[in-house]
Amino acid sequence: MLNSTLRSLLAKAPVIPVIAIEDRAHALPLAQLLVECGLPLIEITLRTPVAFAAIEEIAKHVPHVAVAAGTVRTADQLKSARNAGARLAISPGWTSDLAAAATGLSYPWLPGVATPTEIMQAMNEGADTFKLFPAKTLGGVETLRAYFGPFPTIKFCPTGGITEPEVPNYLALENVACVGGSWLAPPALLNAQDFDGIRAIAQRTLAAAKTALANR
Ligand code: 3PG
Repeated sequence: MLNSTLRSLLAKAPVIPVIAIEDRAHALPLAQLLVECGLPLIEITLRTPVAFAAIEEIAKHVPHVAVAAGTVRTADQLKSARNAGARLAISPGWTSDLAAAATGLSYPWLPGVATPTEIMQAMNEGADTFKLFPAKTLGGVETLRAYFGPFPTIKFCPTGGITEPEVPNYLALENVACVGGSWLAPPALLNAQDFDGIRAIAQRTLAAAKTALANR
């Protein structure tokens, strides 16, 4: 799990674009644009046929981006993500197979949790940093605030259902390391190759995120 490596990767940026690449040709221009906007950590979800190819291209050609493989559900996917050049793997949940694979490879892995029981089970395995998924459905900011009481040392990266205006509310919380979501590179804009539109969202979000962190 490599908690310290994971936390330093997540410290690269307060927001993580969660991206489903449908057209491989979009991978490089999008990664370049996002790093230029100040977002050097991006998640490519394993939900499309070109996901591994996109990860590989970004890892090879956009060295200032740390690319994460998202929606990693099996140990084989985690291994393939690492081989493709992903710097970390992100999962919607926790399995012992994934935990064993990440530990065996000394590979940073951000597992997903939803409930206190899941957090406690994963903490027993040594984890201290989690994706909270699906964040909005689980109660969003209020749930994270409640989790701070029993789990003050745990950091979360909430994702799932988060919209741009809600980002500062999440980043105001001490136990939020960063916030992830697809609002940063919406499929409609990406498929229309509206890179100016994506740039505008990224710049706006990052400015709001920095203000929220400065006011913590
Ligand atoms: C994820 O995989 O983290 C989520 O599907 C992203 O959720 P969103 O599309 O609601 O932002």
